[in-house]
Amino acid sequence: MTDPAATPRFITLEGLEGAGKSTAMAFVREWFESRGETVLCTREPGGTPLAEELRAVLKAVRDEPVAPSTELLLMFAARAQHVERVIRPAMAEGKVVVCDRFTDSTRAYQGAGRGLSMATIDQLAEVAHADCNPELTLWLDVPVALGLERAASRESADRFEQETLAFFERVRHGFEALATREPARFRRVDATRPLAEVRARIEAELEATHGR
Ligand code: TMP
Repeated sequence: MTDPAATPRFITLEGLEGAGKSTAMAFVREWFESRGETVLCTREPGGTPLAEELRAVLKAVRDEPVAPSTELLLMFAARAQHVERVIRPAMAEGKVVVCDRFTDSTRAYQGAGRGLSMATIDQLAEVAHADCNPELTLWLDVPVALGLERAASRESADRFEQETLAFFERVRHGFEALATREPARFRRVDATRPLAEVRARIEAELEATHGR
C-alpha cells in the first residue's frame, strides 16, 4: 500500500479578486484536517517575509508606471523565494500545501491580462519552480462585475484593482483558457452559487483527486 503522506500534495486556488478564494481555502483545509492531515495554507505573491515585501511593492499604487515585464519578474522573484523557503520544505515534511494563487495567476494576469508571452512565463516557471507544480487547481469563477463589487466592499483599491473592466475580462478569459488547456488539473467551480453548494463542489473535487 502506498503511504499517502509520501505523495506530495500541492493544491492551488485561483480566480478574480472577490471570487471567494479565502473561504474556499478554509473548506480545503477543513477537508484535509478532518482526514488527519497537516495543512499549510499560504498565498502569492507572498508567503515569506521577503516575498511579502515584494507583494507590497507590487500592490502599491504609484505615480511611476510599472512595466509589464517588471511586474512579471517581481512575481517570479517572490515565487522562487516562496517555493524554496516554504512550499518545498512543507511538502518534504509531508504537509498538504494549499496556496492562494500561483503561476496560473501569472498566466491569467500577466499573460492574458497584460499580453506577455505564455512561452516566456513557462520558461520563468521552469526557473522558479521547475518540478514543483500543483496537481489540483480550483478556479473560483465569478463574473468580473460581481467579483470587483465584492472586493471593493472590503478594502481600498490596490494597483491591480484599479485596472479596467476590459483587463479583468481578459484575465477571466485567461483562466477559461487554462481550464480548456488542462481540464484534469484546472477545475472550474461556479463561485456565484450558494456557499453550501460551492463547498460541496470543492469537496467532490477533493474526493475525486485525493480521496482514498
Ligand atoms: P490578492 O491575492 O490579494 O487578490 O492580490 C494579489 C494581486 O496580484 C491580484 O490582483 C492578482 C495579482 N497577481 C498577478 O497579477 N500575478 C500573479 O502571479 C499573482 C500571484 C497575483
